Amino acid sequence: MDFSNLISADKDVYEALQREIERQNRNIELIASENFVSLAVMEAMGSHLTNKYAEGYPGKRYYGGCEHIDVIESLAIERLKKIFKAEHANVQPHSGANANLGVYFAVLNPGDKVMGMNLSQGGHLTHGSPVNISGKYFDFTEYGVCKENGRIDYEEVREIAHRVKPKLIVSGASAYPREIDFRKFKEIADEVGAMLMVDMAHIAGLVACGLHQNPCEVADFVTSTTHKTLRGPRGGIILCKKEYAQKIDKAIFPGIQGGPLEHIIAAKAVSFKEALSEDFKVYQEQIVKNSKALADELINRGFNLVTGGTDNHLMLLDLRNKKITGKEAEKRLDEAHITVNKNTIPFDPESPFVTSGIRIGTPAVTTRGMKESEMKVIADAIDLVISKGEIEKAGNVVKELTDEFPLY
Ligand SMILES: Cc1ncc(COP(=O)(O)O)c(C=O)c1O
Repeated sequence: MDFSNLISADKDVYEALQREIERQNRNIELIASENFVSLAVMEAMGSHLTNKYAEGYPGKRYYGGCEHIDVIESLAIERLKKIFKAEHANVQPHSGANANLGVYFAVLNPGDKVMGMNLSQGGHLTHGSPVNISGKYFDFTEYGVCKENGRIDYEEVREIAHRVKPKLIVSGASAYPREIDFRKFKEIADEVGAMLMVDMAHIAGLVACGLHQNPCEVADFVTSTTHKTLRGPRGGIILCKKEYAQKIDKAIFPGIQGGPLEHIIAAKAVSFKEALSEDFKVYQEQIVKNSKALADELINRGFNLVTGGTDNHLMLLDLRNKKITGKEAEKRLDEAHITVNKNTIPFDPESPFVTSGIRIGTPAVTTRGMKESEMKVIADAIDLVISKGEIEKAGNVVKELTDEFPLY
C-alpha cells in the first residue's frame, strides 16, 4: 500500500505501522480469531467513506447526502442475506461485542434470565461473564462441557434450561474445537419457551460454505464478527428472522450505537462478495483440512488436544503433560515468531492469566497459501519450542516458511 502521505504527516505512527507489517510478514499467525484481508477490503476500509455521517438505515437516514452510502450498505445487506440464507441482516454493529449487546438490548430487560457457555470452557465474555455488561445487566446461568470428553454436554444444557427457564439461550463459542449442534439447542429452547441466539463469530466462514450447520435455519438471532474465518474487516453483524427485523435495527441504532462506520460497511460488502465466490469455498475447505492435519501432526508429537482433535478451524492444546503453562508457551513461541494465545482448558487448574493451554487456529496461515505439508513443518516448529526448548532452531524453520509464503 502507498503510505507516502502518512510518512510525511506522522512518522511516529508510520514507523510503528511499518514494524507491525513486518511482524505480520515474519510471524506464523496461529491466533484462531485472526486473518488477513484482501487488499480490496483494505482499500474500501481506508477510503473517503470514513468522512460520512449516515445515522439510520438505507432510505431512512438522519443526514443528507447519503445516496451513495445507501447503495453500499444495501449491497452489504443483500450479499450477507444471500451467504447465510437469512431473512434480515443488520451490517452496522461496530464489533462482535456490539452485535451481541444489540440482540440483548432488543429482546431482554435488565435482570432477565439467559443461558450462555462458561467463558473458561470455551464461551465468550459477552455470553454472561460477570466482568462484562452482559453478566452485570442480565441474570446469566452458565452451561459447560463434559469433564470426560471436553464436548458440550447437551443433557446438562437441557437440565439447566428446564430448571432456570431462561428467556434466551446463547449458543456459540470462542474456543470450542467441535461442531456445535444448533438444532439440539433449538429443541431445548423450544422445550422451555426460550429464544435462541447463536454467536457464530468463529465459524462464520465455515457456515458460509456449508462446512458447519447453518444456525440461521433454526435460531431467532445469529450474530457474528466479520474478521475471523469470514475474512472481512473488523466488525459485527446480526441476522434474524423477519419478525425481529425492526427490533434489531432499533436496538443497534439508536439503541446502542450512533453513526455507522460506512467505510467498514463498504469493506464488509467487498468481503461478502468474496465469500460468495467459489474460491472462498476452496479456502474454507483448506482451513479445515489444515486444522485436521495440524491436529494430527501435534498428536503424533505427543501433544494432548482437548476433545482429542478438531472438526473446525481451531484446536485447544492441553499442555499439562509438557510441563509448561499456556502463558509460558505463548511467550516462548512468540520468541520463535509463532503467534498463539494462551487459553484456559476446561476445568483448568491454572488462572485465566496463566492457563494450562494454548489455542491454535489455521485461518490466517491458510490465507497465506499454506497447506497440509506446511502444517507438518509448523507442528515441528511448535514441538521444537515446547518439547525441546530449541527456540532458535524453530525460529529458523519459521523464517524459511514465511519467506516462502509472502503475505501481500
Ligand atoms: C464468539 C465471539 N463472539 C464475540 C466476539 C467479540 O468480537 P469483537 O472482538 O469484535 O467485539 C468474539 C471475539 O473474539 C468471539 O470469539
